[in-house]
Amino acid sequence: MYRQIVILTGAGISAESGLRTFRDQDGLWEEHKIEDVATPEGYARDPELVDRFYNTRWSQLHGGDVEPNQGHNALVRLEREFDGELLIVTQNIDDLHERAGSHRLLHMHGELSKGRCPRSRQTFLLKDPFGPEHTCTCCIPAQRLRPHVVWFGEMPIGLDRIQHALDTCDLFIAIGTSGTVYPAAGFVDTANHHGAQTVEVNLVEADRHSQFQYHLQGKASDIVPRLVDQILSGNVIKDNIG
Ligand code: OAD
Repeated sequence: MYRQIVILTGAGISAESGLRTFRDQDGLWEEHKIEDVATPEGYARDPELVDRFYNTRWSQLHGGDVEPNQGHNALVRLEREFDGELLIVTQNIDDLHERAGSHRLLHMHGELSKGRCPRSRQTFLLKDPFGPEHTCTCCIPAQRLRPHVVWFGEMPIGLDRIQHALDTCDLFIAIGTSGTVYPAAGFVDTANHHGAQTVEVNLVEADRHSQFQYHLQGKASDIVPRLVDQILSGNVIKDNIG
C-alpha cells in the first residue's frame, strides 16, 4: 500500500518512558526559560547553567530507570518488516529510538549523548555529564565542547535529507509533537502538498491538528503498535483506531 514513509516524533513518544515533555502541564518550559537554556545567547551568557540543564537530562537518561516504550518498539518493528523506504525524523535529543533498535533515524534537534566542537562542528560521544573539562581533539588549542543540541535561532540538522524524504513520501505520521516549533511543524504541509496521506498521533488536538487528514488520539504506546499493524497488513489508515 505505502512505498515511502516519513515519521516525525516529538517529546510525547518518550513521555511514557518517564521523560518530561516541553509544553504539557509540568513540562520543562514551565520551569526553565527558553532564552536561558536553549539559545546561543543564553549559552554565551552562562554556559554552566546550560550545561547543568542538559546534564540533568543526561543523568536521567543514563540513570537506569528510563527505557524505550511500546511506541519506540513498534517503530523498530516497522523498520524491520516494512519493505519500502522509511525515515524516522525525531525532534528528541534522547536516544530511546536507538536503544529500541531504530537505525533509519535522523536527530534533527541534535543528541544529548554528544558534545560538539564549536569551531569544526565535529561531534564527540559523552561518557559522563558535561563540564569545562570536555574539550575537542580536533583543534589547537582544544575547544570547550558545547551540547550537540539545536537551539532556537540555529539551523536544524539534516534538512536537505528531510526535505527530499517529504517530497517523495506517500505517508507522513507525526507522533507526540505539539506542532509549535518550525520547521518540523511545517512538515505536514510539505507532505500534503506532495499528495501524501498525513496522520497525527497525539493525546490531544495539537497546534497543526487541522492540517492532518487522520487523527489517532491516545497514548503513543497504545496507538503506534496498532498503527504499525495496519501499515504492515497493507490496510489504509482510518481515523478510528484511537
Ligand atoms: P512538546 O512538549 O511541545 O509537545 C509534546 C506533545 O506530545 C504534546 O502535543 C502532547 O499532547 C503530546 N503527548 C504527551 N504525551 C503523549 C503520549 N503519551 N502519547 C502521545 N502524545 C503525547 O514537545 P515537542 O513537540 O517535541 O526543541 O517539542 C518540539 C521542540 O520544542 C523540541 O524538540 C524542543 C522544544 O523546545 C528544542 O529545544 C530546539
